Amino acid sequence: MSQHTFAIIKPDAVSAKYSGQIIDIIEKNGFKIVKMQKLQFTKKQAEQFYDIHKERPFFKELVDFIISSFSIIMVLEKENAIADWRKLMGATDPLKADVGTIRKMFGKNIGNNATHGSDGEETAKKEIGQFYPELVK
Ligand code: RTP
Ligand code: MG
Repeated sequence: MSQHTFAIIKPDAVSAKYSGQIIDIIEKNGFKIVKMQKLQFTKKQAEQFYDIHKERPFFKELVDFIISSFSIIMVLEKENAIADWRKLMGATDPLKADVGTIRKMFGKNIGNNATHGSDGEETAKKEIGQFYPELVK
């Protein structure tokens, strides 16, 4: 069954003009782009988006980074979209990511790691619902 996941091309990758290449990889790997928007997260949106990490030592750094400049948010559709998008992104730390993954190709370090992907069905629903409530009704 087809599934939705929430993806972000983060500020580091947008600023470095990697968006086109990343979108090309997404489409060539069979994902349908259901929604797409370029925006700069507000502090409030970022804190809500990352609230699962609010007790983590890197929370402030994470919020400051995601609000620093423009991101491109997307809802992607595909069979197994959540797991397949995470596989295509690669490990959180680009240094540990496999060759051929997006974070290996476009990420600089664990903070500036080019993209985001929902980590499970509940998270996908929460993340998609924050920006596109009509999709999770
Ligand atoms: P994401 O949520 O961005 O798709 O990445 P992820 O699931 O692979 O990683 P997660 O554990 O959810 O962490 C969210 C983001 O926080 C940053 N991070 N920094 N400094 C650190 O030790 C550290 N650990 C994680 C990363 O940018 C990660 O994408
Ligand atoms: Mg995560």
